[in-house]
Amino acid sequence: MTNGTIGTAALGDQGPEVGVQGLGCMGMSFAYGPVDADASRATLERALELGVTLYDTADAYGAGDNERFLSPFFKAHRDEVVIATKFALAIPPDEPTRRIIRNDPPYVRQAVEASLKRLDVDVIDLYYMHRRDVNVPIEETVGVMAELVREGKVKQLGLSEVTAAELRAAHAVHPIAAVQSEWSLFSRDIEAKVVPAARELGVTLVPYSPLGRGFLTGSFVDAEQDLTADDFRRQHPRFTGDNAAANASLLEPIRAIAEAHGATLGQIALAWVQQRATVHGLPVVPIPGTRKPTRVEENTAATRITLTEEQLAQLEPIAAKVAGTRYADMTFTSAGRE
Ligand SMILES: NC(=O)c1ccc[n+]([C@@H]2O[C@H](COP(=O)([O-])OP(=O)(O)OC[C@H]3O[C@@H](n4cnc5c(N)ncnc54)[C@H](OP(=O)(O)O)[C@@H]3O)[C@@H](O)[C@H]2O)c1
Repeated sequence: MTNGTIGTAALGDQGPEVGVQGLGCMGMSFAYGPVDADASRATLERALELGVTLYDTADAYGAGDNERFLSPFFKAHRDEVVIATKFALAIPPDEPTRRIIRNDPPYVRQAVEASLKRLDVDVIDLYYMHRRDVNVPIEETVGVMAELVREGKVKQLGLSEVTAAELRAAHAVHPIAAVQSEWSLFSRDIEAKVVPAARELGVTLVPYSPLGRGFLTGSFVDAEQDLTADDFRRQHPRFTGDNAAANASLLEPIRAIAEAHGATLGQIALAWVQQRATVHGLPVVPIPGTRKPTRVEENTAATRITLTEEQLAQLEPIAAKVAGTRYADMTFTSAGRE
């Protein structure tokens, strides 16, 4: 690691190597309050300078806007970046604000063509199934995803919010390079079954929302009071009312450890999730989201922090005490299918 650049990790057991921290790009177009295109573009460039190569988007982020926004950056740096996008959250034609989950092969084919067009690239490096439609056998969905690999439209396959059993069934059809699921000091469900299965199969873990959607940085407490009216976090049960206040009190041990390291709370949260790689013995590439160049500097610097066994032990009880579910509607997650 020289000049502040980050280390690397393998994306699946067939490569490629990517920067050990990726960049979540969702907030550049939607979900987390007002967007700032210039700051976001500067963030993308700064991330690349710091060794970040895995850039995460989805067709659902701003109904295609995020892929379109990222396209010029990706094209300018095509050989240096690993483009990850996703399908499955479809917009019903008559209800533009609703999302339904679709995993059927004709939909997957339609979605990949639309993403390739918006991104304006010949191939997607990592193509994820964003959510699982339980009415479609996963073998069928991964079967069509594997055809996309053979046709040269996609290089590697990923799954988001799947169970260990679904991962195993999918991997038997075609190697899965990465599983992307929520993983942070506040959300550790996947450690029970999904992470061990990923380790066994040679699958890289890509933790999303590793900063607990920003809550773990201490930058807001009550979403309804602290965030703008259009911010999706106002709908998250963990960030409102009594839950928000209770959950804010859980940040105290993180604050103490941050002080000991001369670091920020967010850096400790990221160092913790990064260190899961050592704890669980598999490659871990978190994708914190930010739209600010200074924050990408702060976040990547967290890859150089190592927490002691004692500090890890102090952080251990936090997740079990978190009040409120990850989403208001948990039917969109893998919870309950394990
Ligand atoms: N597969 C899925 O279902 C799924 C679901 C959610 C997200 N994702 C992906 O995962 C990525 C990351 O997750 P996320 O964005 O939900 O949550 P996150 O990375 O845990 O947190 C992002 C929030 O933290 C703020 N932030 C970032 N760095 C900070 C710092 N150093 N100090 C203070 N605040 C900081 C960001 O604000 P600013 O932007 O203003 O800096 C943003 O509001 C997304 O961008 C998306 O690509 C995937």
